[in-house]
Amino acid sequence: MQTPRTALYGHADHDLAPVASDALQLSPLIPGASDVAALADGSIDAIAIRAPAGVVERRFVLAHALRALAPEGRLTVFAPKDRGGQRLRKELEAFGCVVGESSKRHNRICVALRPDAVRGTAEAIAAGAPQQGGNGLWTQPGVFSWDRLDPGTALLLKTMPPLSGMVADFGCGIGWLSRAVLQSPTVTKLALIDLDRRAIDAARRNIEDSRASFVWDDLRKATDDLGVVDFVVTNPPFHETGGEDRSLGQAFIRLAATSLKKGGRLWLVANRHLPYEAILAEHFASVRLAGETNGYKVFEARK
Ligand SMILES: C[S@@+](CC[C@H](N)C(=O)[O-])C[C@H]1O[C@@H](n2cnc3c(N)ncnc32)[C@H](O)[C@@H]1O
Repeated sequence: MQTPRTALYGHADHDLAPVASDALQLSPLIPGASDVAALADGSIDAIAIRAPAGVVERRFVLAHALRALAPEGRLTVFAPKDRGGQRLRKELEAFGCVVGESSKRHNRICVALRPDAVRGTAEAIAAGAPQQGGNGLWTQPGVFSWDRLDPGTALLLKTMPPLSGMVADFGCGIGWLSRAVLQSPTVTKLALIDLDRRAIDAARRNIEDSRASFVWDDLRKATDDLGVVDFVVTNPPFHETGGEDRSLGQAFIRLAATSLKKGGRLWLVANRHLPYEAILAEHFASVRLAGETNGYKVFEARK
């Protein structure tokens, strides 16, 4: 099959940026997508981008898109005004683009043809690429809490006892929790699952252990491995595309309940304001508040 010569980063919005139905998907948050960094120079005729909100992450994607576009190839980028949209034009102009800008439904839409001379892209690519933090762990701008240990994760690390048997890390990020889990010699297997390919790539580099397996997938769609694991550890996500989304954490809790063996345990940390008590009580035989600090709470729930 010939590679499509058009590409799309993120979910399409045909009203803001029409895109061919066979466009190559490039978002690391859509399992199975190609990696924008792996595209050959000048290989794509048109790219539409739903721009990420983070500056370093966004400039990395824009720079790679300009690198991958053929001369005069068309770049269409859109983002909500308050989530990077207002900066798009300037960012593209700084790369040497002549930009046409319009507004629709609170989004800014910028269109540019790839100029002959693109500038500043190498720096943007280097700044947004996979990198080792001061703690030695691999990470990448755009990944959850990419340059620091999340305080909720820190509380869970402090509270959780050594685990054993088969363990799953739901929304593993770059692998903070999994690294701690694997310190216990009685853990036999550990499945790390995340929606973000960049997180899975980083976790693979951060964890060299034959007990670990890595899955790039959307846990909301998971249907297998039911009733087989002894422990689930998670700091579940509660944001999607900018807004708070409690249903994500609730989906993680429901899936943990179906994945665990009877008597198996879920270790979960959440922001204190998130109302997970009712859903935990609904799906588990017993629930205990195991730790609380700085606006976070840790639950141990037994199936
Ligand atoms: C709050 S972060 C925790 C990351 C890591 N466990 C830590 O403690 O640093 C939640 C993680 O869940 C992932 N995630 C979000 N939605 C997901 C989904 N539907 N399926 C799988 N993982 C998801 C995010 O990419 C993110 O890495």
